[in-house]
Amino acid sequence: MNRIEIKELLSIKGDSKKDCCVKGWVRTKRGSKNVSFIALNDGSTIHNIQIVAEIKYFDEKFLKKITTGSAIVVKGKLIASQGSKQKLEIQAKEIDILGESDADDYPLQPKKHSLEFLREKAHLRFRTSTFSAVFRIRHHLSFAIHKFFNDRGFSIIHTPIITSADAEGAGEMFQVTNLDLSSISKKSNNIDYANDFFGTKTSLTVSGQLEAELAALGLGKVYTFGPTFRAENSNTSRHLSEFWMIEPEVAFSDLYQNMNLAEDFLKYCISYCLSNCNDDLLFLDKRLNDEEIQLKKHERSPMGLIQRLNFVVESEFERITYSQAIEILKSSKPNKSKKFNYVISGFGDDLQSEHERYLVEKKFKKPVIITDYPKKIKAFYMKLNDDNKTVRAMDILFPLIGEIVGGSQREENLDKLKNRMSEMGIHQKDLWWYLETRKFGTCNHSGFGLGFERLMMFVTGMKNIRDVIPFPRTPQHAEF
Ligand code: 4AD
Ligand code: MG
Repeated sequence: MNRIEIKELLSIKGDSKKDCCVKGWVRTKRGSKNVSFIALNDGSTIHNIQIVAEIKYFDEKFLKKITTGSAIVVKGKLIASQGSKQKLEIQAKEIDILGESDADDYPLQPKKHSLEFLREKAHLRFRTSTFSAVFRIRHHLSFAIHKFFNDRGFSIIHTPIITSADAEGAGEMFQVTNLDLSSISKKSNNIDYANDFFGTKTSLTVSGQLEAELAALGLGKVYTFGPTFRAENSNTSRHLSEFWMIEPEVAFSDLYQNMNLAEDFLKYCISYCLSNCNDDLLFLDKRLNDEEIQLKKHERSPMGLIQRLNFVVESEFERITYSQAIEILKSSKPNKSKKFNYVISGFGDDLQSEHERYLVEKKFKKPVIITDYPKKIKAFYMKLNDDNKTVRAMDILFPLIGEIVGGSQREENLDKLKNRMSEMGIHQKDLWWYLETRKFGTCNHSGFGLGFERLMMFVTGMKNIRDVIPFPRTPQHAEF
């Protein structure tokens, strides 16, 4: 008899009694003198199948060995359940234990564990309802991203992970070397990188953008979807040292087309999850609701998870300039009463997440796109506006998350680009290849970067970014 996955089994219509075989891990076992009820899950769905094992068919000592966490194979008859909690159950005829799980040692007890505790058990947390739901959604969300770009004729570009370009300025970099660090004298501050593996100083990439631009200026429409690395010591619930980023880059596209693409893209991905991850989202919606009920009223989110996802899909993102944002913030209550940690004084101030969240959650109550930031707080490659003060940047801010997307129209004018680079102390010789695209057949082009885990947080309602990536890397943490 072939094994059937629980997802498929539960979709069987009609109540004809069927013989079947399932495999999975025991979530819980309870019972009476005469019968044991086992909740079995195989990861194919959030739902368990109930296994009914009557003592008269099985040895009592054998049944005792089936504990939470053990892997078993069950053969039996699929029948309409006698209980009210589930429609179907399996009347077991044969059970084999594939892998026992010592009940005293197994860290996942059939009770609710804290997310912090489960982070330390990242090797086992896939077996919980919450994390199996999160990681199934992570799969669907990645798939949606590839589908969105594929359907629109984009080509994926696999940009390098190891890079010698340390000029992008998106963040502190992790150095990559195979020099013997223990043999480098502490006094020698002049390391000869000619002897290093690549013959030059190299690091892990902070972004695939610069290479994606090269590809876009030939292929027209491209995107990257890969890991990026930032060595900042930011220990927040929204920062990872290793995170995944999606970076589309489009030739002959201006800032408005770029914003439209980003808005369509985000709505598409969220809709995709709403249509394809219904059971998992229902579970996470309820989970979040249970969690929020414990909070004080003013700390609760105004909407449930699924309601919030639908709301974002249906709403038109608010578009304002940085200067407008500064005016709004300057005259806002928390700024006047100095409730913000960073009080906004005027043009040139960088927006902190408290300001971003004020704009999204209090002022506009929907996603906001902020454009035309001061050149001083943005990267060298962004197209300079005629005012010579601001650049054609755009950040998309989401409720509960803050910045989810950062992008811009790129500077296509060679002289202006060189000028910005020297203002920012970036050596032209390091980026000669980037500059050549402005020398030969330059054209307007735009792109953006979406933080995949930030979108995952929004879609799943998980409040810590460490809980939406299987094995998080953060300062002082690289286990598993
Ligand atoms: O705003 P960032 O730094 O933009 C870039 O890297 C550009 N090269 C993108 C482009 O135009 N192609 O990063 C883009 C997004 C942010 O908006 C945020 O969602 C996410 O990446 N991000 C992080 N996510 C998790 N942990 C971190 N440490 C992150 N830093 C940025
Ligand atoms: Mg940014």
